[in-house]
Amino acid sequence: MNQPQNPNTQNTQNTQSYLQQFSLAGKIALVTGAARDIGLEIARALAGSGAHVILNGRNADTLASAVQNLMAQGLSASALAFDVTDKAAVKAAFAQIAAQHGGLDILVNNAGVRNRKPLLEFSDDEIHTMLETNLIAGYTLSREAARLMVPNKSGRLITVTSIAGQIARSGDAVYTGAKAGLTGMMRALAAEYGPLGITSNAIAPGGVATQANAASIADPKINAHFATRTPLGRWAQPAEIAGAAVFLASNAASYVNGHVLYVDGGMSIAM
Ligand SMILES: NC(=O)c1ccc[n+]([C@@H]2O[C@H](COP(=O)([O-])OP(=O)(O)OC[C@H]3O[C@@H](n4cnc5c(N)ncnc54)[C@H](OP(=O)(O)O)[C@@H]3O)[C@@H](O)[C@H]2O)c1
Repeated sequence: MNQPQNPNTQNTQNTQSYLQQFSLAGKIALVTGAARDIGLEIARALAGSGAHVILNGRNADTLASAVQNLMAQGLSASALAFDVTDKAAVKAAFAQIAAQHGGLDILVNNAGVRNRKPLLEFSDDEIHTMLETNLIAGYTLSREAARLMVPNKSGRLITVTSIAGQIARSGDAVYTGAKAGLTGMMRALAAEYGPLGITSNAIAPGGVATQANAASIADPKINAHFATRTPLGRWAQPAEIAGAAVFLASNAASYVNGHVLYVDGGMSIAM
């Protein structure tokens, strides 16, 4: 094993504030599914920490207004509309990123879709769509990002999984399988790219008050169930997930690789 080299040491010896370790100044980040909710707040937090953030989603108009919203806060952001399940569009998007920015430092695989119902009610096409968006896109996006990161021997792959990748409940088999698969992918990429200076980690949110959960929040029974299952007793706001992304993208996480960071109010450890 080589002698330990701590890239943080120099900065701390220079008596810079430890907060400097969290700076993403000069970094280029792509956040998929960033038009709203968790993805948008992750994009806001990365940009707020100094990165230029490329927001992805399928709807160019919604993305443009999200970018305007960030720029009005003085943040550096741009939009790249494409469907993460469209293989040709993914290749074209990464070619555009390489041409415009010369590379990519941070990928946040966040885009996801939710379709909660018993397996018997799923058509083959519905299963396929869920797996294409929630699992297979994680592979294609990570591969294209790695192509840009490997030559620099540096990069951060951050995958938004879910508490559902670890624990299961009835009526959610397709989503649960996809998120568990993403967790395995994230770990395998940590092993594959660690030697090349690229880390791979996951953020696993618990219940977050987003559009995807609007019906559950409005249902008093489901809402009460979530409150009692979560030690913090409430849903997270989307912005409460974003700090984990800044940490994993930053130099403060230089030795964190292959980790699932639960941001779930304690749900995963409570009975
Ligand atoms: N909400 C929660 O409680 C929770 C808990 C655990 C994990 N998560 C995970 O966190 C991530 C974000 O969840 P969220 O609740 O913020 O979701 P959301 O509100 O439904 O937003 C999903 C985002 O993904 C985009 N998107 C969907 N399909 C896409 C595709 N094929 N290509 C490109 N973009 C696509 C959507 O934009 P367009 O529709 O405009 O394309 C939107 O910006 C997901 O991976 C989800 O599984 C959420």
